[in-house]
Amino acid sequence: MSDSEKVASVRAALKNVTVPGGGSLADYSGLSDIIITPSAIAFAISVEPGMEGAFGPVQAAATEAAKSCEPDKKILISITSGRAPSSAAPGAQGGPGANSGPGNQQSAMQTSPVKGIKKIIAVASGKGGVGKSTCSVNLALALQSLGMKVGVLDADLYGPSIPKLLGLDGKPAFRDEKMFKPFEGHGLKAMSIGPMLEPDQAVVWRGPMASSALRQLLRETDWGELDVLVIDLPPGTGDIQISLCQQVELFGAVIVSTPQDLALIDAKKAMDMFVRMKIPLLGLIENMSYFIAPDTGNRYDIFGHGGAKDTASELKIPFLGEIPLHMKIRELSDAGTPILTIEPTGEQAQAFTDIAEKLMDGFEQA
Ligand SMILES: Nc1ncnc2c1ncn2[C@@H]1O[C@H](COP(=O)(O)OP(=O)(O)OP(=O)(O)O)[C@@H](O)[C@H]1O
Ligand SMILES: [Mg+2]
Repeated sequence: MSDSEKVASVRAALKNVTVPGGGSLADYSGLSDIIITPSAIAFAISVEPGMEGAFGPVQAAATEAAKSCEPDKKILISITSGRAPSSAAPGAQGGPGANSGPGNQQSAMQTSPVKGIKKIIAVASGKGGVGKSTCSVNLALALQSLGMKVGVLDADLYGPSIPKLLGLDGKPAFRDEKMFKPFEGHGLKAMSIGPMLEPDQAVVWRGPMASSALRQLLRETDWGELDVLVIDLPPGTGDIQISLCQQVELFGAVIVSTPQDLALIDAKKAMDMFVRMKIPLLGLIENMSYFIAPDTGNRYDIFGHGGAKDTASELKIPFLGEIPLHMKIRELSDAGTPILTIEPTGEQAQAFTDIAEKLMDGFEQA
């Protein structure tokens, strides 16, 4: 059987997998191309924000279905998804300072530096699940490998993921004067609300509560001396993003997007928010940009490719680079050992290091 016949048979098998809301996975619009290599079948399923749990059984059934066609191959199915943006809808400037109107919030703000920290950069996206946290952690590690002292602040109060990504354990300790002692993960100083919550505790912050929790995490942590603090934001343009821009002078924001148009539309909304808040845009990263088959090294653009680069040039902001969709990136993230710590010179890690170098060039020019 030729490869295209094999793909057709997998696709036919996916007709028997039903997606939430009805219809078959084979006909589902979020199904990527099906990639076949000598040792693997790989594809991705893009789902609506909040639907990742509902698609768990689909992933399992699709794995079975693909396995039945190609029993000797490894089946790699990734779900790309995200939560809905945290609170305010894009464009609804609901946070403190909302009355001052778009475009002039900065003048109404009282930003002040954070003791000991030279530069603060925020990692943001319009859409959830595009890889902000993954990029935050790996970029922080790459900057560290380039000689910088780096910290990571988890500003995703609704769904903190930095503890898992950096393998942080235990509750934070206090130093004198009720300052938090930050966690340490792979050499990075890190702070997150996650370890202070009970497992599975759902957190519903009202705007002012989120804003004050963020302030505490940022200002009541004894960061020591840092060259850079990387802030991992929740998706969207809600209270936390606005509050952060109001509280602290950001060196700039890095926007993460996937190549799909839908994600880029949301990325543009996030960029628009930073522009209105007068925060410099450091550039755009295209994550899950392309897939490299682990066995053949062949490259596949399963979601279309280059969308972020075009958007960056359209908006006249720097394009920082492309991160491949790679199972190792996900598996190592889930294990609390980001790829930069395990294979620092590998191709995937290098993609992050290249971006970190571009960011550092920007630091030097500032
Ligand atoms: N380049 C990549 N290759 C493979 N998997 C990836 C890649 N980037 C991210 N992932 C995986 O995609 C999922 C979402 O990534 P991540 O949590 O970093 O996104 P996020 O934008 O921070 O999400 P949220 O909006 O929920 O905060 C994770 O399981 C992560 O491991
Ligand atoms: Mg995240």
